[in-house]
Amino acid sequence: MAAAPRKTPLRVAVLASGRGSNLLSLLRHIEAGHVNARVTLLASDKPDAGALTIARKLGVPAVLAIPPAAGEAADAYDARLLEALVREAPDLVVLAGYMRIVGPAILERFRDRVVNIHPSLLPAFQGLKAVRKALRAGAKVAGCTTHLVTADLDGGPILLQAALLVRPGETEEHLSGRILRLEHLLLPRTVQLFAEGRVTVADGRATIAPGPTWLERPGIELASGALYAEGF
Ligand code: GRF
Repeated sequence: MAAAPRKTPLRVAVLASGRGSNLLSLLRHIEAGHVNARVTLLASDKPDAGALTIARKLGVPAVLAIPPAAGEAADAYDARLLEALVREAPDLVVLAGYMRIVGPAILERFRDRVVNIHPSLLPAFQGLKAVRKALRAGAKVAGCTTHLVTADLDGGPILLQAALLVRPGETEEHLSGRILRLEHLLLPRTVQLFAEGRVTVADGRATIAPGPTWLERPGIELASGALYAEGF
């Protein structure tokens, strides 16, 4: 059963390693009232990540750089990260450009509550350089996916997808930019579905309960040419 819709904002912890544009978009959608959530923690493994600067500027209450120590084993690092997460007691953990593999201790503790955004239509083009792989394969449709994180890297249950037609001769940089703009819609939308208690996971598949759509919502913009529907 999907959880009941909540009145109190969903507590969200974001993990990010890079520039943080997905974090920024999530914070803006929250600010605009489209997403009933609070980002209570931003943690980064990279002390110079743009995401840290954005989080500080926009008033995220806990902003932590947690770089791995030299030679630190992955499970030791994960234990430290888990401690920081548990302190904030998030309802949802969002990976927004987080470049480390999230280990089993965290996934167990937050089972079915860790979400990632990936710049391809999964299960195609998993892993790094997904846009490059799509172009090299001659894909005619590209896009992005939000999914639950499991031990199967980029292979957990799919939540939402949005697509774009690849333009003839389009460069990786250009297509990445267009996909990124779609990500900026898809990730906040995914968080709002959790806030509305509409996500259920069974038999390795995520189902989204019917409910209000974002498609006609004022202030929600789809990138031009995007293929996005809410058939749930
Ligand atoms: C996005 O393309 C996301 O799909 C990938 O990493 C990138 C993060 O971008 N996992 P940003 O740091 O949110 O700007």
